[in-house]
Amino acid sequence: METIKLRKITSLWIITVLFLFIVNIVLGILMRLNQGEIIHEQPATFYAHMTTHGLTQIGIWFVAGMAGINYLMERYLKTSYLANVVAMVLTVTGILMLWTSTYIGNFHAGWTFLYPLPLKIMWAKWATPMFLGSILVMGVGWLTWAVSMMTQTLKKYPLTKALAWQYFRKNPTIQTPPFILISMITLIGIVACLLGAVLLLAMYAAEYYSNGAFVNDALLMKNLTYFFGHTIANEMLYLGLAVIYELFSEVGGRPKWKTTWYISLAWNCTLVFILTAFFHHLYMDFVQPVGFQIIGQIASYMASLPAAGVTVFSVLVAVYRTPIKWSLTNLLFFIGVAGWVIGGLGAVIDVTITNNFVLHNTLWVPAHFHTYNALGNVLFSLAFFHWFSIQFSENTNSEKLTKLKITLLLIGGIGFLMAFYIGGAESIPRRYSNYPAEFPMAVPLAIGAAVFATIYLAAILIFFFQICKRCLNILFSAS
Ligand code: HEM
Repeated sequence: METIKLRKITSLWIITVLFLFIVNIVLGILMRLNQGEIIHEQPATFYAHMTTHGLTQIGIWFVAGMAGINYLMERYLKTSYLANVVAMVLTVTGILMLWTSTYIGNFHAGWTFLYPLPLKIMWAKWATPMFLGSILVMGVGWLTWAVSMMTQTLKKYPLTKALAWQYFRKNPTIQTPPFILISMITLIGIVACLLGAVLLLAMYAAEYYSNGAFVNDALLMKNLTYFFGHTIANEMLYLGLAVIYELFSEVGGRPKWKTTWYISLAWNCTLVFILTAFFHHLYMDFVQPVGFQIIGQIASYMASLPAAGVTVFSVLVAVYRTPIKWSLTNLLFFIGVAGWVIGGLGAVIDVTITNNFVLHNTLWVPAHFHTYNALGNVLFSLAFFHWFSIQFSENTNSEKLTKLKITLLLIGGIGFLMAFYIGGAESIPRRYSNYPAEFPMAVPLAIGAAVFATIYLAAILIFFFQICKRCLNILFSAS
């Protein structure tokens, strides 16, 4: 059973994430307005926005998922409150360091900080160690939190049970809840990619402080960067899915989902393949051994398709011709799964090597990952935030403005994403602060995207005010 302390810190996570999300959407709209030539920023300012927006988004939706699984995990086992607090303190410190490096130090090498960009100083000299330090600080906080949740889980479920391997034999006697299975699979991936980040940062530090005596291998650095960046961006989606497996049937008034052999198999595949899917980021690096490129394509299919297959199947079976209680929570889960699958299909199209020759580094890339984030994972977490906040609210009208919020989210989200997809199909490059005249569609698409993103922002503002009001009550209540 969760404690009052856990309830309060979960409320604080929710308020922090939603506040930073709003600021971050504003940065996104500013970028689109600049690309649409409505405002005129220096390229360095555009790239400072892009760096800040990218890393902050990854950070907040990662911690949103972690806060969600930490809260729900208390249904099965005791988690560490101290690890949760450490993660909170280090996340806030890291975000402040990041924003200092980008907006005071003017660091603007992108959230992927591809080698050797951070070392080619075009900003305050201190901004490079400050930016890399921000990742270290957040990474240590998240590693502590993930390792702590893993060890607590292993105390109750030995590894083979946590990974639900007993389902590969007939009539398993011990049950593993799907929530525990997916959380464990995801936490292992998170720990692996965060350790990769620590190694990457150590190698940057070695070169930075060696005064030219030591130079890194660029290909190795790129592999490590995407092992960290791609993996964490995908694992955070699975945190949201663990929450769905736990709550979707419950809020619909249906029996709890159970683990079966095919759910266990699908998620165990995900564990293996998610760690090698990142190779698809290196298709255009022709010095990369060809075998890795092939692994990249196969692993990208295998990491997404089985998990998506069983999740979509479970969700459809749960709602098809079944009288379920629809509420804002399961509506968000349902639409979020659709967004995740559509974005996933966009990704699968892009990771297919023959297509990648055309789509590589076009707006197709932000198109697909914004789909499974802005209309996928964000909705999973919003569903959790809403569900959590109404647990302790005396106001019975928790479904107020549901239609308006969903309509604004969908109109704003789909319009904003379509501009990216059409841009990608038109071969418009990503990460341009201003588009060259050769792409006449780019400017009108950027303006349209800014308008739709503002509609999406309106929905998020309503969520913010409603959910934060309830969370503040939880935070300041005596019990
Ligand atoms: C309505 C909300 C959002 C808006 C308006 C927005 C806008 C943008 C824009 C304009 C870019 C630059 C794209 C380019 O030209 O290459 C961008 C990049 C990025 N966005 Fe968003 N975004 C939103 C939501 C999100 C969400 C929910 C995430 C969650 C993870 C996210 C993560 C990122 C990342 C990681 C990048 C960096 C991409 C890169 O380095 O190429 N964004 N966003």
